[in-house]
Amino acid sequence: MQGELSDLQMRAQLRTLECHSGVNLSSNDYLGLATDPRLKAAFLAALQPNCQMGSTGSRLLSGNSRDWEQVEEEFAEFAGTSHAIYFSSGYAANIGLLSSLLGPADWVFSDSLNHASIIDGIRLSGARKVIYRHRDLNELEDALALRDNEPGCKMIVTESVFSMDGDRAPLGELLLLGGKYGAELIVDEAHATGVHGPQGRGLAAEAGIVDNVLALVHTCGKALASMGAFVCSGSTVKQFLINRARTFIFSTAMPPYFAYQISAALRIAASADLERCSLTEVAESLRALLREAGFNTGTSSSQIIPVMLGDNEVALYFAAELRRNGFAVRAIRPPTVSPGTSRLRLSLTTKITREQVNELVGVMTAAREKLAPAPYA
Ligand SMILES: Cc1ncc(COP(=O)(O)O)c(C=O)c1O
Repeated sequence: MQGELSDLQMRAQLRTLECHSGVNLSSNDYLGLATDPRLKAAFLAALQPNCQMGSTGSRLLSGNSRDWEQVEEEFAEFAGTSHAIYFSSGYAANIGLLSSLLGPADWVFSDSLNHASIIDGIRLSGARKVIYRHRDLNELEDALALRDNEPGCKMIVTESVFSMDGDRAPLGELLLLGGKYGAELIVDEAHATGVHGPQGRGLAAEAGIVDNVLALVHTCGKALASMGAFVCSGSTVKQFLINRARTFIFSTAMPPYFAYQISAALRIAASADLERCSLTEVAESLRALLREAGFNTGTSSSQIIPVMLGDNEVALYFAAELRRNGFAVRAIRPPTVSPGTSRLRLSLTTKITREQVNELVGVMTAAREKLAPAPYA
């Protein structure tokens, strides 16, 4: 154990826990709801003297309640599906969904930049897998065509807004390819929930394809400032998950009062068009400023903006310089991203002002000037 830790330290890959201070650019609280007084008030109102503090068991035993059923109905309506089922985290939702829908006789086609929870769910399912190059439709089509006559069900799995690169999956095209080769589509909307699409309903809703997707995963721990996730689908998938998803069956339900927080967050988020608009504008302006200053922001087209630096040490250096100047930014390194693609991940929220964005680019530029020769990518 110690040897492995020393090894990580030597490779500048050792992770430690820190409490952030300063302008928070590592937060997934995209709409700023974590400190929203309306959300706090809704939560406090839910804590009535007679409210039950614990759920007392798994949903299949004593932990079910009308509160959870109701918020599932509300969320399904928001997502545009007939049904939704709540898991206590996005990680548990992806593991439960993929490991129960897929089996060793099936095929899964997964974007190479999909989140660890998708990767782990696929591993646990034992399904045969093809990892296609990030957003590469040609490579995906070749892989699908090659398995066209193979038995077993086929599924394409993708994030909608990618968590590390901040770019978008070509959902419409993925659906068409799936249709052509008999593969279902599953979309993880974690970084789009509340932020993208009409009323924040995600990129599948924006593309008008919700009715054709097998399942959508919407998480509550990011823009909804809560926790957990909904798998949104038709009734059969929901029934199947209730019967087969081990992360649902064998886990204690969240307390009923928490359903109120999610419900309130959903209502606030759905009506936050102005905030969504301003977040998009600030993100566009930061991307433009960074690019003008010669930094590489990759293929980002969302509130998540990577600054690609390549080397671990360089990424750590820039993160330290930013922190010294009051910006809470973490360097993202392997194994979270592939070797040679270490970066800063700037995650914008509605709390970030244009002045802070300008200042940030100034600090980045000054930090680069201190390096000679400049070793950034
Ligand atoms: C794309 C994606 N899916 C799922 C998850 C897991 O969600 P949770 O944090 O609720 O477990 C994350 C978390 O970062 C994510 O980025």
